[in-house]
Amino acid sequence: MDNAQLEQLVDQVLSGSKYKHITPDLIHRLSQKALAEGLRGKTAVKSIRNKLHQVGGAYFKQAVNYSAAIQELQQLSPQIDATEIRDYAFRVMQRHTSSAERLPDIETFFQTCLAPIAPVTSINDLACGLNPLALPWMPVTDRVQYYACDIYLDMLELVEAFLMHCNVNHRVIPCDLITELPNVDTQVAFLLKSLPCLEQMDKLAAERLLTGILAEHILVSFPVHSLAGRKKGMPSFYKAHFQKLISGKPWTVQTFEFQTELAFLVSK
Ligand SMILES: C[S@@+](CC[C@H](N)C(=O)[O-])C[C@H]1O[C@@H](n2cnc3c(N)ncnc32)[C@H](O)[C@@H]1O
Repeated sequence: MDNAQLEQLVDQVLSGSKYKHITPDLIHRLSQKALAEGLRGKTAVKSIRNKLHQVGGAYFKQAVNYSAAIQELQQLSPQIDATEIRDYAFRVMQRHTSSAERLPDIETFFQTCLAPIAPVTSINDLACGLNPLALPWMPVTDRVQYYACDIYLDMLELVEAFLMHCNVNHRVIPCDLITELPNVDTQVAFLLKSLPCLEQMDKLAAERLLTGILAEHILVSFPVHSLAGRKKGMPSFYKAHFQKLISGKPWTVQTFEFQTELAFLVSK
């Protein structure tokens, strides 16, 4: 494969405003794949951008003005349990479909799913989206350590600003989970509603991640509706899918059902 051709394709994909904040490692990998499949020029750019839309872009309900959101944060109390911080986090999470869907259950979701291991001391939030802003609703210790990874660098800047503002020990990690897993060892890892996305890019990703994650516990979840709002038997489909993924593993699993999400707490 011609290196100049690869770099040119990467630059073309990154030149679009919706794609320029995506971690270049992922664009590189998708560009290599497209060229290996014989795609060239506009067709290659379109195919890569379609894939990026499916796994990431489609979840933004509206474009987020990250610098305005970070500026607004600076005016607020640094106390993570302050009402104004919760109100802010709630509003920001409305902008990403995945966290927005969880808001009707925000008071109970983490309290219920994490009760068996609370108070939580460290979290590795994989393919996090805007979920780290839900920290005020999680049963954690005062000194909780929060690691968060995703492919969107601008979204991670907001996540980082939020955790820093609230004095939370943290590290945000830009990462393509198909090729790497942040090398951190935590009490619990979150894989919230992200396995279907990752399996669209690599069929074996879910099994590899569930096995490779170093955490003692993994909170895994699946959506109950499609992005288009259809139910289509998704809870039973994902229950069966998850059972298959963990079959034969010596792990214990607790199941939790919410109006928009089906969650499993796996203890290794
Ligand atoms: C359905 S959303 C879930 C977001 C969050 N976990 C939640 O439940 O609110 C899927 C997330 O996976 C991220 N993502 C997609 N492909 C990824 C990859 N290869 N590596 C890391 N994150 C990825 C997207 O940017 C998006 O934030």
